[in-house]
Amino acid sequence: METTATPVATQAELDLIASLPPSFRWGVATSAYQIEGAVDADGRGQSIWDTYCRVPGAIDGADTGDVACDHYNRMPQDVELIASLGVDTYRFSVAWPRVQPGGRGPANAAGLGFYDRLVDELLARDIDPWVTLYHWDLPQELEDAGGWPARETAYRFADYAMLVFDKLSDRVRDWTTLNEPWCSAMLGYYEGRQAPGRQDLPAAISAVHHLLLGHGLAAQRMRAAATEPINLGITLNMSTATPATDSAADRDAARRADGLGLRIYTDPLVRGQYPADVVADLGARGITLPVLDGDLEIISAPLDVLGVNYYFSQLYSGVAEDGATTGADGHPVVRDVRYGRPVTAMDWEIVPEGFTELLVRLGRDYPGLPMVVTENGSAFADTPDETGYVRDDGRTAYFAAHIAAVAKARQEGADVRGYFAWSLMDNFEWSYGYDKRFGIVHVDYATQKRTPKQSALWYRDTIRRVRGH
Ligand code: NOJ
Repeated sequence: METTATPVATQAELDLIASLPPSFRWGVATSAYQIEGAVDADGRGQSIWDTYCRVPGAIDGADTGDVACDHYNRMPQDVELIASLGVDTYRFSVAWPRVQPGGRGPANAAGLGFYDRLVDELLARDIDPWVTLYHWDLPQELEDAGGWPARETAYRFADYAMLVFDKLSDRVRDWTTLNEPWCSAMLGYYEGRQAPGRQDLPAAISAVHHLLLGHGLAAQRMRAAATEPINLGITLNMSTATPATDSAADRDAARRADGLGLRIYTDPLVRGQYPADVVADLGARGITLPVLDGDLEIISAPLDVLGVNYYFSQLYSGVAEDGATTGADGHPVVRDVRYGRPVTAMDWEIVPEGFTELLVRLGRDYPGLPMVVTENGSAFADTPDETGYVRDDGRTAYFAAHIAAVAKARQEGADVRGYFAWSLMDNFEWSYGYDKRFGIVHVDYATQKRTPKQSALWYRDTIRRVRGH
């Protein structure tokens, strides 16, 4: 990569970015199912995503993760690519069905071996491996036995986590248990927009608790087994929840959105209790979190870091478009409303100041917990030139605005210690398939050729500038 990127950031953004300390961590992130392909290699078992991709209509373009970026077969070259970006950290996830094909029992050495080699490749290039243990690919056999709504899955997750920890913890310091449990629970078991595609709110709420319990059980065991200092956390997708107007109905809708979107995770994790208002709202629907004695102590095991994934913000209204304040189900309306800003290809509004607001709020409400931005990025309809190069002004500007927003949050007191771009390269964007491209590196899926986009060059140059060399 010799080209220097076209500047697309404002001077105010560049000044804010320049205030980040040289010690700030810079990374790129991916997840297993989104990039690896090779779904039958080395004894890998089926995951809920293999199954879900076969459901007619579930994935745009009927795409699957069968081949994806073929990273499983191209890993050493991909690590070279990561090194060329000048980042110090690579966040990736381990595929549970490679390690335990059926979700139980001893480790499949061949599957675990892939991550063992990946860690060595990264360390050989001075890149810190940051391991996410669960990025949505539950072994299908565990789903067949009840999935995350079943308490048993939490214990299976902790066993799996220890197989990975035992193998890699001599070289890996940074560990994330779960990625975005909101998506696993609410999109997977309530909205049915992700695997396993169920639509059952009580099941989704049970999944919330068992995901958190799985996190806590794994965290306790990893902490107890660690012989070196570790940096242990969980990654949540979060956003602001601002009422569309100052009306009581809109303020209540925002409170509800914040309760089920954020506090139902952060409060038990950090404070050891579920928020009383969320418990009451669920109770009004006849839904109870399946908490047993001792669970909350396990879930609130100390965290070293909170992983924050941020993409967009929206406003909330308690009034439907027809003026009703209760929905067809008889429960209060919680409707999202737009700011009226430009959107990305995901139709997500670009609201960088929401990122600052979120980080400052987290720092205030959950003090003493360092944060790392484990994902932030955007999809745009890229148009590569004949060499595969993409001049992605929209994505580059998004990064500039959002990294500046992080720097601003730090100036306002939020203890944010790093930023990882989503994503290293274009990949399988879940139910949107390959059409939505989040990569800073373009992937030509016909040839698997990788070409860094303008945003990658800008990111590399930004990191260099902040580090002062
Ligand atoms: C968050 C998820 O962790 C990641 O898998 C996904 O690709 C990005 N959001 C973009 O939607």
